[in-house]
Amino acid sequence: MSVNRGQWGSKFGFIMAAAGSAVGLGNIWRFPYVTGQNGGGAFVFVYILCVLLIGLPLIYNEVALGRFTGKNTIGAFRDTGANKFWLATGAVLALCVSFFVLSYYSVIAGWTIGYIISEFTNFIKDFQTFQATPLYVIPLFALFMVITIVIVTGGIAGGIEKASKILMPLLFILVFLVMLRSLTLPGAMAGVKYYLTPDFSKITGKVILSALGQAFFSLSVGWGILITYGSYLPKNQSIVSSGLWVGFMDTMVALLAGLMIFPAVFAFGKDPAQGTALVFQVLPDVFNSLPTGGNIVGALFFLLLCVAALTSSISMIEVPASYLIDEKKWRRKHAAWTIGILAFIVGIPSALSGGASELFTNMQIPFFGGTTKTGFLDIMDAIFGELFIVIVAFMTSLYAGWVIDTRKLAEEIATGAPVFSKKIAGITPAQLWVLFIKYVCPVVIGLVLLSTIGII
Ligand code: ALA
Repeated sequence: MSVNRGQWGSKFGFIMAAAGSAVGLGNIWRFPYVTGQNGGGAFVFVYILCVLLIGLPLIYNEVALGRFTGKNTIGAFRDTGANKFWLATGAVLALCVSFFVLSYYSVIAGWTIGYIISEFTNFIKDFQTFQATPLYVIPLFALFMVITIVIVTGGIAGGIEKASKILMPLLFILVFLVMLRSLTLPGAMAGVKYYLTPDFSKITGKVILSALGQAFFSLSVGWGILITYGSYLPKNQSIVSSGLWVGFMDTMVALLAGLMIFPAVFAFGKDPAQGTALVFQVLPDVFNSLPTGGNIVGALFFLLLCVAALTSSISMIEVPASYLIDEKKWRRKHAAWTIGILAFIVGIPSALSGGASELFTNMQIPFFGGTTKTGFLDIMDAIFGELFIVIVAFMTSLYAGWVIDTRKLAEEIATGAPVFSKKIAGITPAQLWVLFIKYVCPVVIGLVLLSTIGII
């Protein structure tokens, strides 16, 4: 591994950075609204299965691929012998996911900055008007992008790790406090029931695709992020326990976010299936309902949501940036600014798709399961934030399971984690992982993809 690439300073630092990448708007903004659009409890049930059975083995796979090669996503595929087909469908597509999601993710993160300011100034009267005012959304979007770039230019241990170690624990505490307030609102229990009682008749191919897509979005699987972050992980640190922590923390925050939103949705008589606006329309009411200090709690909450988005957006820039640094010998600063500015330009139609531009707001594409996606931001999210992530995860599991020597990756996971090669009930975790990567992951993801495209 080149000494100039940088490394995580400690295991805690890696876990916080990887969990920081995982925990973000995906948990607090996306998980509740996707749950609301897919029928509540049944979706949550499928989601948890997806995390445990498919997400976790893929986390190990990506981190191992990164640490084994010590390279960025493209370098990791190339150095393990990938031909053009695997490079394109595994590595280049992952880079596209990180870059294009960054472009609209930062727009939403910009809204959170607006909400922080509004808790004190009340300049946001309602979400629709705010979203439709370019004079608000574009500068906030630019501001968020600049902060992301500046952190990434700070490097691995000094920038990304330092920021994540402080901010992640704070976020956890705040989500917990807001959840307690939500649960004690009058009428909150209807929301809890909606959220936690699965109606299995609601499970369709589209619901499973959304749950898989959401699990990968949230765990940062299928973006090249964990390959990149794995490449900075020293050999003596355990991929097994770090991966478990990342998966556990990410899922906890998502589940708590649901308990924070749905009780309030029902208590205030809102529609759980209203889509991307959900969190921004519901939470301000929760803060206003506090007898005193609502604006302080609200500002703090949106600050931490913004921070959670930041620890994720830095990981998205890092994927293409590490490619430019490793392969094209660019300076880190140059790479981060170039990617950030390009993503800003590509993100402008998303920023204008909340009412500011008729064209970008009303454009439509048909999506799977007979659904239609309306508006540039939602279209980007459906294509890159759902479909492409699932395809990359599928190709990566096929690549690791069938194209390269899977045992070498299993050995990489066992390096620094001897428990991975110890027999438990007649089978080692390493053998079990190989079974999942070779069979369970590609078969399940493949079937879900085929069924959503309508082939089976
Ligand atoms: N995994 C990140 C999130 O959930 C991108 O927001």
